[in-house]
Amino acid sequence: KEAKLWGGRFEEGVTDAVERFTESISFDKVLYKHDIMGSRAHASMLAKQGLISFSDRDSILEGLDQIQERIERGEFEWRTDREDVHMNIEAALTDLIGEPAKKLHTARSRNDQVSTDFRLWCRDAIDMIVARIKHFQIAMVKLAKTNEGVIVPGYTHLQRAQPVLLQHHLLAYVEQLDRDAGRLLDCRVRLNFCPLGACALAGTGLPIDRFMTSDALGFTAPMRNSMDAVSDRDFVLELLSANAIIAMHLSRLGEEWVLWASEEFGFITPSDSVSTGSSIMPQKKNPDPMELVRGKSARVLGDLVTLQVLCKGLPLAYNRDLQEDKEPVFDSVKTIMGMLEVSSEFANNITYNKDRINKALPAGHLDATTLADYLVHKGIPFRTSHDIVGRAVALCVYKKCELQELSLDELRTINTVFEMDVYEYLGVQNSINKFTSYGSTGSECVAAQLDFWITRLGID
Ligand code: ARG
Repeated sequence: KEAKLWGGRFEEGVTDAVERFTESISFDKVLYKHDIMGSRAHASMLAKQGLISFSDRDSILEGLDQIQERIERGEFEWRTDREDVHMNIEAALTDLIGEPAKKLHTARSRNDQVSTDFRLWCRDAIDMIVARIKHFQIAMVKLAKTNEGVIVPGYTHLQRAQPVLLQHHLLAYVEQLDRDAGRLLDCRVRLNFCPLGACALAGTGLPIDRFMTSDALGFTAPMRNSMDAVSDRDFVLELLSANAIIAMHLSRLGEEWVLWASEEFGFITPSDSVSTGSSIMPQKKNPDPMELVRGKSARVLGDLVTLQVLCKGLPLAYNRDLQEDKEPVFDSVKTIMGMLEVSSEFANNITYNKDRINKALPAGHLDATTLADYLVHKGIPFRTSHDIVGRAVALCVYKKCELQELSLDELRTINTVFEMDVYEYLGVQNSINKFTSYGSTGSECVAAQLDFWITRLGID
């Protein structure tokens, strides 16, 4: 067996069980690119500071290039006995270039190395997720664009509440995901500080230049406190929290689309390309992708909980427990990317069944609140208006009809304030036309919202 990089003080090697249990190479090898980036910046800094020669630096940089190529061609041998991505690459570099490689770990520990790698990885992940959020927003805005003028029931408590424009409904999700992107970008700002040079926990007496490595890696500045630098994982928690909120938003959308695709609602029809069938019931066409968006939100939330529980009992500074921070993040990012992708595809592949929606619209007295506003215009205090309309609704329930079907005489039996102009307020279309407040579902407000997003997202 090969001696461990840290083997000097040991008389015997670890058991196979310990080796298998403590390794992380099986999952942290995905950090290879960022590990190599970090090593390149570190080696260049060491040379500039006179800690290694320029020719050693050049051999290290060339060696790292070769290793990266090998990895990317799938020709690199990842060895479990070399524990993790950091020692696999360092040991392979030593095999490749010999002595100069042994200088690379000067003024560096795996503790600052792994935190640097992981920050770089998370930074890229954030950029990927933000791009995919934009893609999803574009799909939703395009869906809204093709459904101009469609009115749907708006719900509270899943009971019919007030009529809304479908565009307004769809754009609500675009807003939610926009804040999600904002949360990720905020997290990106806070995570973008460089741990490299914190070494094991205390820094070093060697004359390193932490500002140089921080700059080279695109960080804002080196982290101020070496103990914080190696032990902090709140950047991970922020990313996982932001992902958990995205997952929750998409899960709600998934639930809604699944519901709206049901026979009972029948408001949307997903195309075959985003539906699946049943192995026993020949007639079935199921909205599985959105059910799984809803389902997979569970693991994204679980990933966040895992990290919170992982970190809560750890004293300063680095603890090996922290190695467990990676798989939940990899899982969360992969899952969120999939959820966003499939939600966009679903948005691109559904049709709203306007006939069905229109047929369903008159039911449920969606215009009742608009009628109360009518009475306010007539000078009636709102609480009294509410009561009057409540009695009109009770009459409709008794007569099994809609508010607009009550005659003026009937309305006047409830209160004589009603006049002929009341019919300008009744019915869902009239009702929609009456909304004028900023951010409301009125046609002009919604058109302005749509324009805002079309411009903001660069849609043509
Ligand atoms: N694989 C380890 C991790 O993911 C790297 C750091 C190990 N450091 C140590 N002192 N054992 O956290």
